[in-house]
Amino acid sequence: MSKKNIIITGGAGFIGSHVVRRFVQNHPDLHIINLDVLTYAGNLENLKDVEKAPNYEFVRIDITDKTAVEALFTSRTIHGVIHLAAESHVDRSITNPIDFVMTNVVGTVVLLNAYKAHADTSAGRFYHVSTDEVYGTLGDDGKFTEETPYDPNSPYSASKASSDHFVRAYHETYKLPMVISNCSNNYGSHQFPEKLIPLMIHNITNNKPLPVYGKGENIRDWLWVEDHARAIETIYFNGKDGETYNIGGNNEWKNIDLVHKLCEIMDRKLGRAEGESAKLITYVTDRKGHDFRYAIDASKLENELGWSPSVAFDQGFDKTIDWYLENTEWLDRVTSGAYADYYQSMYAAR
Ligand code: NAD
Ligand code: DAU
Repeated sequence: MSKKNIIITGGAGFIGSHVVRRFVQNHPDLHIINLDVLTYAGNLENLKDVEKAPNYEFVRIDITDKTAVEALFTSRTIHGVIHLAAESHVDRSITNPIDFVMTNVVGTVVLLNAYKAHADTSAGRFYHVSTDEVYGTLGDDGKFTEETPYDPNSPYSASKASSDHFVRAYHETYKLPMVISNCSNNYGSHQFPEKLIPLMIHNITNNKPLPVYGKGENIRDWLWVEDHARAIETIYFNGKDGETYNIGGNNEWKNIDLVHKLCEIMDRKLGRAEGESAKLITYVTDRKGHDFRYAIDASKLENELGWSPSVAFDQGFDKTIDWYLENTEWLDRVTSGAYADYYQSMYAAR
C-alpha cells in the first residue's frame, strides 16, 4: 500500500524543521513533503539529518503561487496539510505589512482551495499552526483560553487572525476536516536571530549592545520548540475536527528578567566575569503597539489530548544556549548578507 502524503509548509523554518524531523522520524508510514519557498527565514541546513530519509521530500514552492500549489496537489494524492509557512516576525510586519497579507492570508487561502479541490480529505486533515497573538494583549492577570475573542494588534497578528478565520470558514462552509492551534513564544535551536533569544545570544557573543524594547517589562510565555512540535503531532492525529487548541509553556518571563538570566548563563559559559554581559543591555525605543503580556491556558489540550510540556525551562534554555554556542557557523551564515541590512534598518536609529 502506498504511503499517505502529508504536506508540511514552512518546513525549512524554525518550528517547521522540528515538526518535519519529528514526522519523518516517527512516521515511516507517511510520506512527508516539505513545501517551502526558502525566504530569509527558511534554511535547508536545518534538516540535514533527515534530507536523505526515504519518506522525506522537499519542494520549493511559494504558497501564493496558485499554479505551482495546484500542480503539487494534482501530481499525487495529498492526504493532509500541516501549514506553518508564514511571515513570522512582528517587527517586520510593522515596516512591511503587505508581505504578511500575501503569505499569511492569500497563501493560506491558496492552500485551502487546493486542499478543497484535490485532497483526499477522508484520510487526513488541514491543520493551521497559529499564534496566541490573535487574542491581543493581557493585563497583569488572566490567560488566553480558546474562547477569548480575537483582538489582534500588530499587522502580523491581524494576518494570522485572518488566516485562522479562513480556515474556520472553510470548515463551516465546505465541511472540510480542519484544526487550528494557537501557541505562545517558542525557543530552541535553529531560530532565526531576529527573534529575542537568538538575537541576544548572537549579540552577547559578539559584545554588541542588547536592545531591550521600552523598559523590558513586557511578558511572554516561553515553550520549548520540541514540545510545540509534539503538541502539533498530537493534535494532527487526535484533535477534533473544527476545534482550536491553545498551546503554552506555563512559563511567563518579563523580557528584562529573561535577558538578565541569559547574560548570567552566558558569562559562565564564555568564562566572563559576573555581570560582564549585562553591561551590554541597552534600552531602546519600544515596538509600536507592543502587546504587554501573553499567557496561555492550555488545559483543553492537556485534559482532552493528554499533552503537557516535557522540558523544564532551565533545562531547555541551557540546551538552547549550548546549541547556538556549538553552532557558530550556522549563526555566522544566517547573519551574513541581508541580515546586516535588516539589523541596521531595525536598530541603528532606535
Ligand atoms: P519562521 O519565520 O522561522 O519560518 C517560516 C518558514 O516559512 C520559512 O521556512 C520560510 O521560508 C517559509 N515561508 C515564508 N513565506 C513562504 C511562502 N510564501 N511560501 C512558502 N514558504 C514560505 O517561522 P516560525 O517561527 O518557525 O513559525 C512557523 C509558524 O508557527 C508560523 O505560522 C507562525 O505564525 C507560527 N508560530 C510561531 C511561533 C514562534 O514563537 N516562532 C509561535 C506560535 C506560532
Ligand atoms: O506569541 C507567539 C509569537 O511569538 C509568534 O506568533 C511570533 O511568530 C514570534 O515571533 C513571537 O512574537 P514576539 O513578538 O513575542 O517575539 P520576539 O522574539 O520578536 O519578541 C519577544 C519579546 O522581546 C517582545 O516583547 C519584544 C521583545 N524584544 C524583541 C526583540 C527582537 C526586545 O525587547 N528586543 C528585541 O530586539
